[in-house]
Amino acid sequence: MSGLQALAPLIAIDGPTASGKGTVAQRVAHALGWAHLDSGALYRMCALAALRGGIALDDEAGLAALAGALPVRFGDGGLELGGEDVTEAIRDEAVGSAASRIAALPALRAALLGLQRDCRRPPGLVADGRDMGTVVFPDATVKIFLTASAGSRAERRHKQLIEKGFSANLADLLRDLQQRDERDSKRAVAPLRPAQGAVVIDSTHLDIDETVAQVLRVYRHRVRR
Ligand code: C5P
Repeated sequence: MSGLQALAPLIAIDGPTASGKGTVAQRVAHALGWAHLDSGALYRMCALAALRGGIALDDEAGLAALAGALPVRFGDGGLELGGEDVTEAIRDEAVGSAASRIAALPALRAALLGLQRDCRRPPGLVADGRDMGTVVFPDATVKIFLTASAGSRAERRHKQLIEKGFSANLADLLRDLQQRDERDSKRAVAPLRPAQGAVVIDSTHLDIDETVAQVLRVYRHRVRR
C-alpha cells in the first residue's frame, strides 16, 4: 500500500445482504466527492465468470486463479468484465447465491485483497461489503455496520428486482437471504460481524436519506475530534 493510499480517508460500510449498504455507500461517496467500492460486485463478477467458464464453485485453486487475474474495470457507466458491461448480469439471484458460496473460500478472498486496497486513493473511498472494516481496511476512518430486519430486507430486494424487470417471489427471496446471512456470518474466514469500534445503524425504520445523513454525521463527528 502506498503512503498516499494509507492517508486517504475511508468509510467502511459492512452489513448483511440487502441492508441498503450499496445505495447508502454510493450516496455517501457522492456527497463527499469520493470514490465508491462495491466489493460484493467483485465476488459477483468472480461468480459470473466461474459459472460461464464452467469452473466448479468448490474449486478453490481454480477460483483463486480466476480472481487473481479478473479483467475488471470500474467504468463511469458501469462494471466491466473483460470489456463487457455486466452491471445487470451480476445482479441475478443465481449469481448472488454463487458469490456467497465462493466467498467462503480463503484463497479466493486473498486473491481479491490487492484489487480492493488499490481503490483507496485521495480524496477518499467509501467501501461497502462484509469485511471492509474487519479485514480489508482495518484502519478505516469510520466503520459502519448497517443492518435491518430480514423481512424488510427481503421486501426491499423484491421491490428492486421487480422494478428492474426480473421475476421474484418474496418467500423465496426471504429464504435465500436467510441462508446467505447464515453462510456469511458462520464462515470461518472473514465472517460477517460488526468490526471493533463500528457504529451499528439499524435501517429497518429509516429511509435512504435518513441513513445517509446518519453515516455522514458519524464521519463528520469523527474527523472533527
Ligand atoms: O453484497 P452482495 O450481495 O453484492 O455480495 C454478494 C456476496 O459476496 C455476499 O453474499 C457475500 O457472501 C460476498 N461478499 C463477501 N465479502 C464482501 C462482499 C461480498 O463475502 N466484502
